[in-house]
Amino acid sequence: MGIDDFGPRTWARPECVSFGRRPMTTYLARPDVVSLDGAWDFSFGGAADVPIEVPGCWTMQGFDRPIYTNVQMPFPGPPPSVPDDPQVACYRRTVSVPASWTGQRVILHVAGAESVLYVHVDGAPVGMGKDSRLPQEYDLSPVVTPGEPFELTLTVVRWSDATYLEDQDHWYHAGLHRSVFLYATPPTHLADVHAIAQHDGALTVRVAVDGPPQRGWTVRAEVCGQTLTGDVRFEHATSIGVNMALFEGRGAVLETTIPGVAPWSAETPNLHPLHVVLVDDDGSEVDAVSLSIGFRTVEIVGPELLVNGRPVLIKGVNRHDHDPRRGKAVTRESIERDIELMKRFNINAVRTSHYPNDAHLYDVCDRLGMYVIDEANLETHAYLRSLSKDPVWAPAILDRVTRMAQRDKNHPSIILWSLGNESGVSPAHVAAASWLRTYDPTRPVHYESGITEDLYRGLSMPDALARPRAETDVIAPMYPSVEDIVTWATRAEPDRPLIMCEYIHAMNNSCGGLDEYWRAIRTHRGLQGGFVWDWVDQALVLPDGTMGYGGDFGDQPNDGPFCLNGLVDADRTPHPSLFELAKVIQPVQLRAVEGGFEVHDEHDFLDLSHLRPSWTVTVDGDEVQSGTLDPLVLGPGETTTVTIPHDVPALAPGQIAHLTLSFSDATGHEVAWEQTELTRSRRTEGRSAPSGTTRTQLLCLWRAPIDNETFGPARAAVGAGSTHAERWEAMGLRDASTHAELHTTVDGDLVTHEVTVDLDDIPRVGVRLALGPGIHSVDWLGRGPHECYSDRKAGARVGRWHTLVDEWGTPYVHPQANGNRTDVRWLRFLDADGNVVVTIEDLDDLDVTVARVTDEELADARHLEDLPTRDECYVWIDAAHRGVGSGAVGPDTAPDHRVGPGAYRWSYRIS
Ligand code: GAL
Repeated sequence: MGIDDFGPRTWARPECVSFGRRPMTTYLARPDVVSLDGAWDFSFGGAADVPIEVPGCWTMQGFDRPIYTNVQMPFPGPPPSVPDDPQVACYRRTVSVPASWTGQRVILHVAGAESVLYVHVDGAPVGMGKDSRLPQEYDLSPVVTPGEPFELTLTVVRWSDATYLEDQDHWYHAGLHRSVFLYATPPTHLADVHAIAQHDGALTVRVAVDGPPQRGWTVRAEVCGQTLTGDVRFEHATSIGVNMALFEGRGAVLETTIPGVAPWSAETPNLHPLHVVLVDDDGSEVDAVSLSIGFRTVEIVGPELLVNGRPVLIKGVNRHDHDPRRGKAVTRESIERDIELMKRFNINAVRTSHYPNDAHLYDVCDRLGMYVIDEANLETHAYLRSLSKDPVWAPAILDRVTRMAQRDKNHPSIILWSLGNESGVSPAHVAAASWLRTYDPTRPVHYESGITEDLYRGLSMPDALARPRAETDVIAPMYPSVEDIVTWATRAEPDRPLIMCEYIHAMNNSCGGLDEYWRAIRTHRGLQGGFVWDWVDQALVLPDGTMGYGGDFGDQPNDGPFCLNGLVDADRTPHPSLFELAKVIQPVQLRAVEGGFEVHDEHDFLDLSHLRPSWTVTVDGDEVQSGTLDPLVLGPGETTTVTIPHDVPALAPGQIAHLTLSFSDATGHEVAWEQTELTRSRRTEGRSAPSGTTRTQLLCLWRAPIDNETFGPARAAVGAGSTHAERWEAMGLRDASTHAELHTTVDGDLVTHEVTVDLDDIPRVGVRLALGPGIHSVDWLGRGPHECYSDRKAGARVGRWHTLVDEWGTPYVHPQANGNRTDVRWLRFLDADGNVVVTIEDLDDLDVTVARVTDEELADARHLEDLPTRDECYVWIDAAHRGVGSGAVGPDTAPDHRVGPGAYRWSYRIS
């Protein structure tokens, strides 16, 4: 297959980065394009010339399998050892380009090949290159004749030295996962455009021109109603001496200022078309390209990252390219949907963890308004402290960082460059950072790994945060605790912004304590937000149609369900945590005060005139008063107080009243809200007749461990002791009766429980009731409608909610405790005809779970399909229930949200 055509074993030699590949540029679309997406002839293993779809991963099309690992490599080292069978596949296709392309350059564009690409035309070698997540271009002009068919062979090697540089926590796939196409340009052509547009209107357009030198050619640029022109230089026109002193490269540099230009920000994504035309000495247009540019300025001043002169809060998420059916081959529609969904949930920033994404993502972020940290495809996690320090890898490190910046430089959405992830710090990293700062002084550099290396050396997090760092301009820790970042912000005047590149580990039932982070961020200068880990569950659809995770494809080694860390599931259904995030980061911050709310406009650029305020008063969740207010005249960063013209309603005994203020956009979508309890009335001690049914109440001190309890707390306890799940198992907590005795008194329909517990840090203190068959749905008054826990309830308001029993819980792909609701006051269980079958009321803001399966069944299941289906309906009524925390890799559940020893007493009426 010709993979030795460029020297022996180039796929296993770090110093071989590319051969014959075109230098990276911004992709400049031309009208003459031949798409090569679609069916190719594929040969791999035993299969010869079978059809396969491009773009696509061969691992998702029935060839070999995807492998999920986090830190560990999919094959044994030491680097750069590669398995004897590196898995080589050949994509073949007979192609022709129009005869009208005669005399033009014919360029092959392969937007992504995992992990090494070799290109042949009619069996003759053209070139090779590495970096699975950046495009590669090859000039086919010398080897093809337009109008005549030729055979294009793209050979992809799966396991290579490059795998050591792409050891991210995600699925290893293989193949041509992004589009492939050919395009034509004139021989002398626009090679690249670099537009530097600042928010004050200053614009520099550097146009690179390549190809046979010409005399008297010019470049014309049209932007914002202005036309700029400049002579194209191929060399300086005079002597060699002057050439040496004055000639800055082939092309032209155009400069202007656009007065009063509408600047770009994530809140005001104003884009302006820039047309660039190459004109020959006759005045004819030879080549023309267009891009969308945005005028914006990014700078660090003291401890603040400023966009257009204003400090911005980074309300970000990490995002992997992931499609549950297509693996790394994400579609444009899914990219678009992701960014739209993020915006709906108040997210304003994406870190492209941990590699440059499909070019379409940046276009969408420019257009819809989303800040981006663009991250180089560089992670050496298994060899974090060694590999990058070996200079043999330095060319590859620089190649990956510089090519990313060369491709993506024109996107206003990108505000920071990232050197990659978890690769330690090496001279090559410092060189790459320095290259970026010189090549593109308009964006600061981001890199975390020096902090992790310092932690491994034994430094505390606050000390590691405070260390000077040559490789990064922002302090970008992962998973620090709130205390750590506050210590950093208050110990000395911070000299750089701290933006957490990862925080709050959204692994299944997780994200406790998010509001604590944001309290700190809003209080301390220098703390500017962060990126939740991460956006989407990396579950993949198995051949039988069910959802799988690491190991389910027979992939070895694997890291099991650790790939399920999403705020949305793989099909993009939001997890309850996403509602919490949206509330905590909402751009209108509200605080209840006497008679109304204090309103703070937390937008960085927008005033509140685009939002419509409305309010309601509810009694036990039923609306009794409501009204709208005029849009507020309030600028970004400003605060005011609004009075709500409401009455405090009269309540029957046991009722509760709330006032809610809400801000919606023109489409009616709620952007921000706050709810405050107005008043509650005490219950009368009524007594009713016994219901006639005695139900068994089972004392419960345990829950099916959530992943934060199975995997963590990790950072706090590297190698130290057992996980909570193991501890609870060793205690025998599944059987609560061996630990405590439940005293229950029944007085009419009033049930009172008392128990004294002397155990520390357990999941819950509560009872489980089996309500019997035939229950179809539930009405309740309490927080909802989605799942919430004591440390993740800011986004769940008190209301009257209804759901099917089957939909009460959250179907996390990896089964674990789920479905809790906090501050519950009553529940009504209904049959399929809507008749109330059981009522449980007079709860004092207790934690309640409803399910058809037990905790034991959840804990013992690996997949949702392992759970039994039955008509029983269980309800857990807990006096105390542990928060969820973020402990799989972040901080454990905070002490306030743990369940400790003590005497517990709780009661309710059941009929
Ligand atoms: C970080 C890493 C992420 C992911 C996360 C845990 O260390 O950068 O890629 O592995 O931990 O889910």
